[in-house]
Amino acid sequence: MKKKLSLKFPKKKIQNLIISKKYLGNHLNMKVLNEFGFYVLKNALTKKLVEKYKNYYYENIKNQKIKKSDNHITQVIIKEKNKLNNIIKENKFIKIVKNFYEGNVGCDFIRIVRKDIYNKDLLFTHQDTGYQSGNTNDKYSLFIALTECNEFNGGINIFPGTHKYGYLGDVGEISKKITDKFLMLKTNLSDGDILFMNSNLWHNSYENSNLKDRIYLEVHIQNSFEPNTKYLVLGKSNNEWKISGDTKNLFTNSRTSRIKILNKHLSRLKKMINKSL
Ligand SMILES: [Fe+2]
Repeated sequence: MKKKLSLKFPKKKIQNLIISKKYLGNHLNMKVLNEFGFYVLKNALTKKLVEKYKNYYYENIKNQKIKKSDNHITQVIIKEKNKLNNIIKENKFIKIVKNFYEGNVGCDFIRIVRKDIYNKDLLFTHQDTGYQSGNTNDKYSLFIALTECNEFNGGINIFPGTHKYGYLGDVGEISKKITDKFLMLKTNLSDGDILFMNSNLWHNSYENSNLKDRIYLEVHIQNSFEPNTKYLVLGKSNNEWKISGDTKNLFTNSRTSRIKILNKHLSRLKKMINKSL
Protein backbone atom coordinates (compact mmCIF):
# COMPACT_ATOMS: atom_id res chain seq x y z
CA MET A 1 0.00 0.00 0.00
CA LYS A 2 1.26 3.48 -0.88
CA LYS A 3 2.10 5.68 2.08
CA LYS A 4 0.12 8.94 2.26
CA LEU A 5 2.12 12.04 1.33
CA SER A 6 2.80 14.26 4.29
CA LEU A 7 4.75 17.55 4.40
CA LYS A 8 5.77 18.97 7.75
CA PHE A 9 6.41 22.70 8.13
CA PRO A 10 6.61 25.31 10.94
CA LYS A 11 3.21 26.98 10.47
CA LYS A 12 3.40 29.14 13.59
CA LYS A 13 6.77 30.58 12.56
CA ILE A 14 5.40 31.52 9.14
CA GLN A 15 2.26 33.03 10.65
CA ASN A 16 4.46 35.15 12.91
CA LEU A 17 6.53 36.30 9.95
CA ILE A 18 3.42 37.37 8.05
CA ILE A 19 1.90 39.19 11.05
CA SER A 20 5.18 40.93 11.95
CA LYS A 21 5.87 41.89 8.30
CA LYS A 22 9.55 41.21 8.84
CA TYR A 23 9.77 40.10 5.20
CA LEU A 24 9.35 43.71 4.12
CA GLY A 25 11.57 46.76 4.52
CA ASN A 26 14.07 49.26 3.14
CA HIS A 27 17.08 47.09 4.02
CA LEU A 28 17.56 43.57 2.79
CA ASN A 29 17.30 41.11 5.68
CA MET A 30 19.49 38.13 4.69
CA LYS A 31 18.35 36.11 7.71
CA VAL A 32 14.71 36.32 6.62
CA LEU A 33 15.71 35.60 3.01
CA ASN A 34 17.61 32.46 4.07
CA GLU A 35 14.95 31.20 6.40
CA PHE A 36 11.81 31.95 4.40
CA GLY A 37 13.19 32.07 0.85
CA PHE A 38 12.08 35.59 0.00
CA TYR A 39 12.27 39.26 0.93
CA VAL A 40 10.48 42.36 -0.34
CA LEU A 41 12.91 45.27 -0.57
CA LYS A 42 10.86 48.46 -0.62
CA ASN A 43 11.98 51.48 -2.69
CA ALA A 44 15.05 49.59 -3.86
CA LEU A 45 15.44 51.66 -7.01
CA THR A 46 14.82 55.38 -7.35
CA LYS A 47 11.77 56.49 -9.34
CA LYS A 48 14.15 57.95 -11.94
CA LEU A 49 15.92 54.63 -12.43
CA VAL A 50 12.65 52.71 -12.63
CA GLU A 51 11.33 55.17 -15.23
CA LYS A 52 14.50 54.68 -17.28
CA TYR A 53 14.06 50.90 -17.47
CA LYS A 54 10.31 51.12 -17.90
CA ASN A 55 10.88 53.43 -20.90
CA TYR A 56 13.47 51.00 -22.31
CA TYR A 57 10.90 48.25 -22.04
CA TYR A 58 8.15 50.16 -23.87
CA GLU A 59 10.63 51.40 -26.53
CA ASN A 60 11.74 47.80 -27.11
CA ILE A 61 8.18 46.53 -27.40
CA LYS A 62 7.25 49.37 -29.76
CA ASN A 63 10.28 48.74 -31.99
CA GLN A 64 9.71 44.96 -31.75
CA LYS A 65 13.22 44.44 -30.40
CA ILE A 66 11.77 42.11 -27.80
CA LYS A 67 8.69 39.92 -27.92
CA LYS A 68 6.90 37.36 -25.80
CA SER A 69 8.13 33.75 -26.02
CA ASP A 70 5.76 31.48 -27.93
CA ASN A 71 5.54 28.71 -25.35
CA HIS A 72 5.45 30.83 -22.21
CA ILE A 73 2.65 32.87 -20.65
CA THR A 74 4.75 35.76 -19.34
CA GLN A 75 8.34 35.54 -20.57
CA VAL A 76 9.94 38.15 -22.81
CA ILE A 77 13.53 37.20 -23.74
CA ILE A 78 16.15 39.96 -23.79
CA LYS A 79 19.09 39.68 -26.18
CA GLU A 80 22.61 40.14 -24.85
CA LYS A 81 23.23 43.67 -26.13
CA ASN A 82 19.86 45.08 -25.06
CA LYS A 83 19.95 48.16 -22.79
CA LEU A 84 17.64 46.43 -20.31
CA ASN A 85 20.61 44.26 -19.31
CA ASN A 86 22.45 47.33 -18.07
CA ILE A 87 20.48 47.08 -14.85
CA ILE A 88 23.26 44.86 -13.43
CA LYS A 89 25.79 47.63 -14.05
CA GLU A 90 23.85 50.22 -12.08
CA ASN A 91 25.60 51.20 -8.85
CA LYS A 92 22.32 50.95 -7.00
CA PHE A 93 21.89 47.35 -8.15
CA ILE A 94 25.49 46.37 -7.35
CA LYS A 95 25.13 47.76 -3.82
CA ILE A 96 22.00 45.68 -3.29
CA VAL A 97 23.65 42.36 -4.25
CA LYS A 98 27.16 42.93 -2.90
CA ASN A 99 26.58 40.78 0.21
CA PHE A 100 25.71 37.66 -1.75
CA TYR A 101 28.25 34.85 -2.41
CA GLU A 102 31.04 36.67 -0.54
CA GLY A 103 31.05 39.35 -3.19
CA ASN A 104 31.33 36.99 -6.20
CA VAL A 105 28.00 37.62 -7.87
CA GLY A 106 27.08 36.23 -11.26
CA CYS A 107 23.94 36.19 -13.32
CA ASP A 108 22.80 33.50 -15.74
CA PHE A 109 19.80 35.30 -17.24
CA ILE A 110 17.87 38.54 -17.31
CA ARG A 111 14.37 38.64 -18.74
CA ILE A 112 11.04 40.40 -18.54
CA VAL A 113 8.06 38.57 -17.07
CA ARG A 114 4.95 40.52 -17.83
CA LYS A 115 1.20 40.34 -17.92
CA ASP A 116 -0.94 42.77 -19.83
CA ILE A 117 -4.19 43.07 -21.72
CA TYR A 118 -3.15 40.27 -24.14
CA ASN A 119 -1.33 37.97 -21.73
CA LYS A 120 -3.36 37.82 -18.59
CA ASP A 121 -3.59 34.17 -17.60
CA LEU A 122 -2.89 32.91 -14.11
CA LEU A 123 0.20 30.81 -13.44
CA PHE A 124 -0.13 27.62 -11.40
CA THR A 125 1.98 26.96 -8.31
CA HIS A 126 5.49 25.81 -9.22
CA GLN A 127 9.15 26.29 -8.41
CA ASP A 128 11.61 27.71 -10.95
CA THR A 129 14.62 25.48 -10.28
CA GLY A 130 13.56 22.79 -12.75
CA TYR A 131 13.70 25.34 -15.57
CA GLN A 132 17.23 26.38 -14.68
CA SER A 133 20.63 24.74 -14.94
CA GLY A 134 23.54 24.36 -12.53
CA ASN A 135 23.55 24.09 -8.77
CA THR A 136 20.00 23.93 -7.38
CA ASN A 137 20.52 25.83 -4.13
CA ASP A 138 21.22 29.42 -3.19
CA LYS A 139 20.05 31.08 -6.40
CA TYR A 140 17.72 34.01 -6.43
CA SER A 141 15.44 35.80 -8.80
CA LEU A 142 15.31 39.52 -8.21
CA PHE A 143 11.94 40.61 -9.53
CA ILE A 144 12.27 44.34 -10.07
CA ALA A 145 8.83 45.91 -10.31
CA LEU A 146 8.74 48.35 -13.24
CA THR A 147 5.02 48.88 -12.60
CA GLU A 148 2.67 48.15 -9.75
CA CYS A 149 2.68 44.35 -9.45
CA ASN A 150 -0.16 43.32 -7.20
CA GLU A 151 -2.92 40.80 -6.70
CA PHE A 152 -5.17 42.65 -9.17
CA ASN A 153 -2.85 42.61 -12.17
CA GLY A 154 -1.35 39.16 -11.58
CA GLY A 155 1.56 39.86 -9.19
CA ILE A 156 3.55 37.01 -7.68
CA ASN A 157 2.22 35.09 -4.67
CA ILE A 158 4.68 33.03 -2.66
CA PHE A 159 4.59 30.21 -0.10
CA PRO A 160 7.07 31.26 2.63
CA GLY A 161 9.70 28.71 3.61
CA THR A 162 8.88 26.12 0.93
CA HIS A 163 12.37 26.47 -0.60
CA LYS A 164 13.51 24.35 2.36
CA TYR A 165 12.18 21.24 0.59
CA GLY A 166 14.71 21.88 -2.20
CA TYR A 167 14.14 20.87 -5.80
CA LEU A 168 11.06 18.66 -6.05
CA GLY A 169 12.16 16.84 -9.21
CA ASP A 170 9.56 18.19 -11.63
CA VAL A 171 8.41 21.46 -13.16
CA GLY A 172 4.70 20.70 -13.06
CA GLU A 173 1.89 22.22 -11.01
CA ILE A 174 2.21 21.56 -7.31
CA SER A 175 -1.03 19.96 -6.16
CA LYS A 176 -3.70 22.22 -4.68
CA LYS A 177 -4.34 19.49 -2.10
CA ILE A 178 -0.84 20.29 -0.82
CA THR A 179 -0.72 24.07 -1.32
CA ASP A 180 -4.12 24.54 0.38
CA LYS A 181 -2.48 23.44 3.64
CA PHE A 182 0.28 26.06 3.33
CA LEU A 183 0.26 29.80 3.92
CA MET A 184 0.37 31.93 0.79
CA LEU A 185 1.43 35.56 0.70
CA LYS A 186 0.56 38.12 -1.98
CA THR A 187 3.73 40.14 -2.51
CA ASN A 188 2.07 43.34 -3.82
CA LEU A 189 4.96 45.51 -5.05
CA SER A 190 5.04 49.17 -6.02
CA ASP A 191 7.28 50.23 -8.89
CA GLY A 192 10.88 50.34 -7.69
CA ASP A 193 10.43 47.54 -5.14
CA ILE A 194 12.28 44.25 -5.56
CA LEU A 195 11.06 40.79 -4.63
CA PHE A 196 14.01 38.51 -3.82
CA MET A 197 12.96 34.91 -4.34
CA ASN A 198 14.94 31.71 -3.84
CA SER A 199 14.47 29.64 -7.02
CA ASN A 200 13.20 26.67 -5.02
CA LEU A 201 10.38 28.70 -3.44
CA TRP A 202 6.85 27.71 -4.48
CA HIS A 203 4.96 30.53 -6.14
CA ASN A 204 2.08 31.34 -8.46
CA SER A 205 0.21 34.35 -9.77
CA TYR A 206 -3.43 35.27 -10.31
CA GLU A 207 -4.95 36.35 -13.56
CA ASN A 208 -4.43 39.99 -14.55
CA SER A 209 -7.99 41.03 -13.76
CA ASN A 210 -7.67 44.83 -13.89
CA LEU A 211 -5.76 44.61 -17.22
CA LYS A 212 -3.07 47.06 -16.09
CA ASP A 213 0.46 46.15 -17.20
CA ARG A 214 2.35 44.00 -14.69
CA ILE A 215 6.01 44.20 -15.58
CA TYR A 216 8.92 42.69 -13.70
CA LEU A 217 12.50 42.91 -14.87
CA GLU A 218 13.88 39.63 -13.53
CA VAL A 219 17.58 39.25 -12.78
CA HIS A 220 18.64 35.76 -11.72
CA ILE A 221 21.75 35.79 -9.53
CA GLN A 222 24.09 33.01 -8.48
CA ASN A 223 27.64 32.46 -7.32
CA SER A 224 29.79 33.79 -10.17
CA PHE A 225 31.91 30.62 -10.02
CA GLU A 226 28.97 28.61 -11.40
CA PRO A 227 29.99 27.38 -14.90
CA ASN A 228 26.85 28.78 -16.53
CA THR A 229 27.40 32.37 -15.31
CA LYS A 230 26.65 34.58 -18.28
CA TYR A 231 27.23 38.01 -16.76
CA LEU A 232 29.65 38.90 -13.98
CA VAL A 233 27.99 41.43 -11.67
CA LEU A 234 30.92 41.79 -9.27
CA GLY A 235 33.92 39.87 -7.94
CA LYS A 236 35.72 37.07 -9.74
CA SER A 237 34.51 34.20 -11.87
CA ASN A 238 35.69 30.76 -12.90
CA ASN A 239 37.42 30.28 -16.20
CA GLU A 240 38.34 26.60 -15.81
CA TRP A 241 34.78 25.26 -15.99
CA LYS A 242 32.50 27.18 -18.27
CA ILE A 243 29.26 26.64 -20.20
CA SER A 244 28.50 29.29 -22.82
CA GLY A 245 25.56 29.59 -25.18
CA ASP A 246 22.14 27.98 -25.05
CA THR A 247 22.10 25.00 -22.66
CA LYS A 248 19.15 23.56 -24.62
CA ASN A 249 21.74 22.59 -27.24
CA LEU A 250 23.29 20.19 -24.72
CA PHE A 251 20.52 17.73 -25.57
CA THR A 252 19.49 15.99 -28.74
CA ASN A 253 16.36 14.62 -27.14
CA SER A 254 15.18 17.10 -24.53
CA ARG A 255 11.94 17.16 -22.55
CA THR A 256 10.62 20.14 -24.55
CA SER A 257 11.62 18.70 -27.93
CA ARG A 258 9.85 15.44 -27.02
CA ILE A 259 6.67 17.39 -26.12
CA LYS A 260 6.83 19.23 -29.45
CA ILE A 261 7.16 15.94 -31.37
CA LEU A 262 4.28 14.39 -29.40
CA ASN A 263 2.09 17.43 -30.10
CA LYS A 264 2.86 17.13 -33.83
CA HIS A 265 1.85 13.44 -33.78
CA LEU A 266 -1.28 14.31 -31.86
CA SER A 267 -2.43 16.98 -34.29
CA ARG A 268 -1.74 14.61 -37.23
CA LEU A 269 -3.81 11.91 -35.54
CA LYS A 270 -6.63 14.38 -34.88
CA LYS A 271 -6.66 15.37 -38.56
CA MET A 272 -6.77 11.71 -39.63
CA ILE A 273 -9.65 10.98 -37.26
CA ASN A 274 -11.58 14.05 -38.45
CA LYS A 275 -11.12 13.00 -42.07
CA SER A 276 -12.36 9.50 -41.44
CA LEU A 277 -15.54 10.70 -39.67
FE1 LIG B 1 8.10 30.96 -11.81
